Amino acid sequence: MEERKGFGTNFGFLMAAIGSAVGLGNIWGFPNKMGASGGFTFLIIYLVLAALCGFVVMVGELALGRKTGKGAVGAYQVLSKRFKWLGWLGILSAFLILGFYCALGGYCIKYVVLNVGNLFGAGFGNNGLASGDVFGNLLTNQLESVIYGLIFVLITLLIVMGGIGGGIEKFCSIGMPCLFFMLVIVIVRACTLPGAADGLKYMFVPGWAVEHGVIAKAPSFINVLSTAGGQMFFSLSLGMGAMVTYGSYLDKKQNLEKNALIIVVCDTIIALMAGLAVMPARFALDPEGPIGGPKLLFITMQNVFNTMGTVGYVFGIIFYLLVVLAAISSSISLLEVVVAHFCDKARQKGKGDKRKVYAVIAGLASGLLCVLVCLDGLGANGISPFNILGIQPDANGNLPGWSDCWLDFLDCVSEGIMMPLGALLMCLCIGWELGPKAVDDECCLEGNAFKSKTFFNICVKFITPLLMLFILAGQLDGFFGLGWFS
Ligand code: PHE
Repeated sequence: MEERKGFGTNFGFLMAAIGSAVGLGNIWGFPNKMGASGGFTFLIIYLVLAALCGFVVMVGELALGRKTGKGAVGAYQVLSKRFKWLGWLGILSAFLILGFYCALGGYCIKYVVLNVGNLFGAGFGNNGLASGDVFGNLLTNQLESVIYGLIFVLITLLIVMGGIGGGIEKFCSIGMPCLFFMLVIVIVRACTLPGAADGLKYMFVPGWAVEHGVIAKAPSFINVLSTAGGQMFFSLSLGMGAMVTYGSYLDKKQNLEKNALIIVVCDTIIALMAGLAVMPARFALDPEGPIGGPKLLFITMQNVFNTMGTVGYVFGIIFYLLVVLAAISSSISLLEVVVAHFCDKARQKGKGDKRKVYAVIAGLASGLLCVLVCLDGLGANGISPFNILGIQPDANGNLPGWSDCWLDFLDCVSEGIMMPLGALLMCLCIGWELGPKAVDDECCLEGNAFKSKTFFNICVKFITPLLMLFILAGQLDGFFGLGWFS
């Protein structure tokens, strides 16, 4: 059987895993959710959840992967009787997330080009249009959106075709330090703008967002808990097999516990740093602009760069390039979840790993979903789920959150339901079927100590699954407007 090649160094593994975690979720999700959900209070709740759930699930996933040396599907098939199928849930989540992630990645590439155009006064710049109109035009220009989306899919595909060491590790080992460096440059500029302090107050001061009318009313505790929990799972790439897959390529000598801790800490630091780059600039230069989601990234931030004059376009290029890097390092881990499984199977049958063939097939399949999301243009083109399913607005004129556009639909199904469910079932599998010892042993290989063993064992059996249930219920409540916790 052909050898299964893994990461060359622990640094390479860390860069790839942090790269998977650091993505669009850190940049437009975390800073806004933190501001709208209680500032510093949210941060504390996020950190507690990151320790009690994020770290525990991270150790569990990495351990399952490394123990079996297989991707998500194979790992559960080898280890578990009851949860044999759980890896497939991961593959499905990866595929759905890829669909909208690649479309957004494509928009990010477009914005790098746009700012180059602005810098040189070329026709492919803003061309005198306001940022809202530029983004609106992109959404309704289906051909352009599809082309950019597919360019993003192609880049992802080419890196994954290069394999773990030759593609993913190489890209992330260079890309992630660059991303960090660019982020620091943007933070320095953003935080020294006059009026930047309001952005910091929005992010950190509890209650500021309500007092200053940025949001209408403070969310309930359960809402905050589920917002923080949902954000954490998505941001750490948990509950869908990405970390099982990366763990399966990690050398047995390496310390799993330490690596898991580093990934969780770095992801949180970069989310906070992204907030320092985005929020002060938004409050200083475009205080009325959208404050979260794609509109924050593509309308507000572009407005910010426009108001800064020529140098703004240089910052624009740096900023959107860093977002492209963050998005690619995440999308390659999503595609790898799918590819790793089929490669494992081919290798088992003695056919070599056929990585290139499977990468192309998986890339094409996710490309199709990406095309759908691009054609929909965040609901601008009349083909959203509610158009197709004929869903009627309620008495207040609102549609269920998941039906607005295909992006929201895919996001709700994957991030809102499948990821927390996947993580919950993984905890039950480790805590109650395999027993925590399976993970303890894996963490203690080659003389490594598992310092948080007792903490892990208690959490994985009781605390994490219970919290996961709350998070899942809160997410369902929010997305479907069930009103359980309001
Ligand atoms: N963690 C990524 C982000 O924050 C998203 C992601 C989820 C990537 C799941 C891989 C797997 O944007």
